Amino acid sequence: MKTVSLVPFLTFTLLAFNAGHILPGIAEGESSGQKVWARAGSSAVLPCHLSPKKMWKSRKHLPDKTSVLWKRHGGSAHQEPHVVLEVGYSGLRKTALPMRPRVSVQDSALRNGNFSLRINPVRSEDAGLYEAQVAYNTEVRTCQVELGVITVTLSPPSPVVENEPLLLSCNSSHRASLVEACWFHNGLLVPTSGTFCSLHGALSILRPAMSDAGSWRCQLRYSDNEIISATYNLQILGFDGPTNPVVYAAAGSAADLPCTLSYLPSAFGVNVMTAHWSHLVGGHLQDWSISQNSSSRSFPLHLPAVGPGDAGQYRCAVSVGSKTISRDVTLAVLTVTPSIQGPVSEGSRLLLICSLTHPRGHEHFQWKHLNSAPTNSKMAVATSRNLEGHRSHVGPTLEIPQVSQKDMGRWECSVYGPEGRLGAVEYGLQITGAQVSSPPTIFSGQVTFGLTLTLFLLLTISVLALALQKRAWSPAFPALEGMFAVTVPRKKEMEENQKEKIQQTEC
Ligand SMILES: *[C@@H]1O[C@H](CO)[C@@H](O)[C@H](O)[C@H]1NC(C)=O
Ligand SMILES: *[C@@H]1O[C@H](CO)[C@@H](O)[C@H](O)[C@H]1NC(C)=O
Ligand SMILES: *[C@@H]1O[C@H](CO)[C@@H](O)[C@H](O)[C@H]1NC(C)=O
Repeated sequence: MKTVSLVPFLTFTLLAFNAGHILPGIAEGESSGQKVWARAGSSAVLPCHLSPKKMWKSRKHLPDKTSVLWKRHGGSAHQEPHVVLEVGYSGLRKTALPMRPRVSVQDSALRNGNFSLRINPVRSEDAGLYEAQVAYNTEVRTCQVELGVITVTLSPPSPVVENEPLLLSCNSSHRASLVEACWFHNGLLVPTSGTFCSLHGALSILRPAMSDAGSWRCQLRYSDNEIISATYNLQILGFDGPTNPVVYAAAGSAADLPCTLSYLPSAFGVNVMTAHWSHLVGGHLQDWSISQNSSSRSFPLHLPAVGPGDAGQYRCAVSVGSKTISRDVTLAVLTVTPSIQGPVSEGSRLLLICSLTHPRGHEHFQWKHLNSAPTNSKMAVATSRNLEGHRSHVGPTLEIPQVSQKDMGRWECSVYGPEGRLGAVEYGLQITGAQVSSPPTIFSGQVTFGLTLTLFLLLTISVLALALQKRAWSPAFPALEGMFAVTVPRKKEMEENQKEKIQQTEC
């Protein structure tokens, strides 16, 4: 590359990281006329070391009456040299107003001879010639350092949002005219044609993607062959995970729809973040506001129990400062539809149809009989392809030509995509006339509790009914009859619910 021919010339290369570290191109020393480059927004150290050993020979410490005065020679404007920072004999510090909070020298400067001036953060207007005057007893030593500032500008300013056109530009305080500007992304030279185009030190990215995040370095070459470069760590505000995520959930189970920002933008002083979820269902807009403290970048939507009606597209919109970014998440609900509702009598033909509300076309289904005994379930997994009987079955529809006692229990329909298992839904097959000593795992703790509750309710009602029957007919009786009539179907309803629960647990 051309750089090789430039080696004889003095080149100052700067590596300014976003964190603000500076590696000056020149070794620190006592010589004057040094030049230091810093990127605006990072920190700079203008070196000035006066070794006590060299200057005071036998003495280990600087003489008592030492003071340092950092001055700046009028930058671009025709200003008089003015004081930046002063540390007097007594250790008393004075800082001049314009740079007051940003400049410092080490507290131990007067003892260890490190009078380097630290500027944090550097601004583009700080560029110029600086001079330190170290006075001790009657002598005065000086350090002269030139500060060059390189500015990387983002337009629009941070935070940079995914898909929003971005212009990165680079300029510096160097006076010569710019010949060439090159950009490197993660160390690789970016071609000037194609997606990225370089014009006068500027680089435009039409549709920033998450892959454009990372370290960008601009390298400016001037007519006097000086080469300056600065590195900027670009962060792109978007979402974690795939662009159009699909969440698979079994009907009746809970679903969590993800919405996680790629990074926490509070680093840019943006603390106001609100998230809004919306879902259009039958022309009616449902919405949820998710509030999160500023230390979290995740705004998931929790749906406690989903049904086929909840399936569809959800949008998560996060407002970060004045910008709003959004992502669509699809909820696909898995359901099992049996050809026979309720308990199935032995010997009948049963079809179990597994369906997905939002298929993408490449899914495949697999049915499996989950038995209570662990050995059996293992066998069912092992024989998933070449099945004995209908223990396992590939395809959305499971046909049991003649239902028998051994078909009783949990059936699981799993959905697979190219990326692996997407989700599963269960169906609890109950057979009329089945023995009560059915596998205990069919009934989860919840269901057992429900049964107990039902029995208890039945008992209560019976006792109540008996007690009331024993009484003389009172005007309250018609109401009682009504109550009794209503209670019975309610019991049935509860049983139905239990069945549903059995069908849809653990997905
Ligand atoms: C001198 O002080 C500056 C800060 O004022 C510091 O960054 C630098 O590392 C110090 N140098 C040495 C050699 O201690
Ligand atoms: C570089 O560009 C920035 C932004 O446009 C500007 O503020 C700054 O003064 C420029 N620096 C120089 C040295 O021209
Ligand atoms: C913010 O939320 C996180 C987790 O939800 C919690 O650990 C943290 O303490 C919260 N911070 C504040 C300031 O509330």
